[in-house]
Amino acid sequence: MSIDFHQKDRNALDLSGKVVVVVGGGQQPGPGMGNGRAICILAARHGAQVVAVDRNLDAANETVDMITAEGGSAYAIEADVSKEADCQRIFDETMKTSGRVDGMVYSVAVNPPFDFESNSMSVENFNYGINVNMLGCYHCNLFAAQCMEKNGDDTNGSIVNISSIASVKNELGLNIGIMPYALGKCGLNRITELTAVQYAGVGVRVNTLMLGPIDSVLGNHDSQSLFGLDAGEVKEAYADVVKLKMGRGSVWESAYAAVYLLADESRFMTGQQIRLDGGATLVR
Ligand SMILES: NC(=O)c1ccc[n+]([C@@H]2O[C@H](COP(=O)([O-])OP(=O)(O)OC[C@H]3O[C@@H](n4cnc5c(N)ncnc54)[C@H](O)[C@@H]3O)[C@@H](O)[C@H]2O)c1
Repeated sequence: MSIDFHQKDRNALDLSGKVVVVVGGGQQPGPGMGNGRAICILAARHGAQVVAVDRNLDAANETVDMITAEGGSAYAIEADVSKEADCQRIFDETMKTSGRVDGMVYSVAVNPPFDFESNSMSVENFNYGINVNMLGCYHCNLFAAQCMEKNGDDTNGSIVNISSIASVKNELGLNIGIMPYALGKCGLNRITELTAVQYAGVGVRVNTLMLGPIDSVLGNHDSQSLFGLDAGEVKEAYADVVKLKMGRGSVWESAYAAVYLLADESRFMTGQQIRLDGGATLVR
C-alpha cells in the first residue's frame, strides 16, 4: 500500500475498493436514525461496498435502498448475532459475494426486558443480552479478522467495535436492566484489545469507538424503559450526564469517527478506546 498522506489534494478517508461489513446496519423502528445506518451510508459515500447486517432484514434492506439511491454499492444479510453460526455465515456470504473483507463495524446492542418494580430479569433474557452485546462481538471479530488476514500484503483490515460510556460510568441509575448492556460493553472493550494484540502482526487493526449520549432511536427509546423516564426527562437526564454541557452527539459524528477508523489514515492506531462522549467521562 502506498502512503501518500503528505500529498496535497489527496482523496482523504477514501474507502474505495474496500468491503465494509456493518453488523447492526439496519435500524430499530422509530423516528431518527441509528448509528449503524449512518455508518453504512457514510462508508458508502466514501467509496466502500457496504454489507448491512441485521436481524431485521427489512431494516437492513432500507439502509441498502438509501445507499443505492445515492449511487453507492451495498447489499443486506439477515443474521442474529446471538448465534455463532449466524456470525460465521455473515462472513462466509460476504466472502462468496465480494471476495474480501476490509472493514467490520460491530454496532449491535440490546437491553433485554426486565421488571422495573421488582428489579428482576429472567436468566434467559440476561443470557440473550450477554450473547448479543458480548459473545456476538467476539465471534464477529474473530471471523472478520480471519477473512482480513487472507488479504495478504494488500490489507489494512480494520475492525471498529461500538461501545458505550455505560461500560465505564453510570449516572442514570443502577438496576438489573442495565447489567447485560454494561457488562457486555466491558467485555467488548477487552475483546478489542485482545483481538488487536492477536492480529496486529497480520495487519488487522481493532479499535473501540465508545459513544456517550447520542441522539438515536435506541438511545431515546431504551433510556425511557430502562430508567422509567418520559421523553422530556431523558433529555434532562442526558444534559446532566454530559457535565461539560455539550449536549448530545448525532449519529453523523459517530459515523465520521467510524470512517476515520476504517480508513488508511488511522493505520497506526490499534487497540485504542476512542471516546466520543462530549467529555462525559472526563468530569465525574
Ligand atoms: N444511542 C446512544 O446513545 C448510544 C450510546 C452508546 C452506545 N451506543 C451503541 O451504538 C450501537 C448502535 O445503537 P443505535 O443507537 O444506533 O441503535 P439501533 O437500534 O438503531 O441499532 C441497533 C441495531 O442492532 C440490531 N440488532 C439487535 N439485536 C440484534 C441481533 N441479535 N442480531 C443482529 N442485529 C441485531 C437492531 O435490529 C438494530 O438495527 C450499539 O452498539 C449501542 O450500544 C449507542
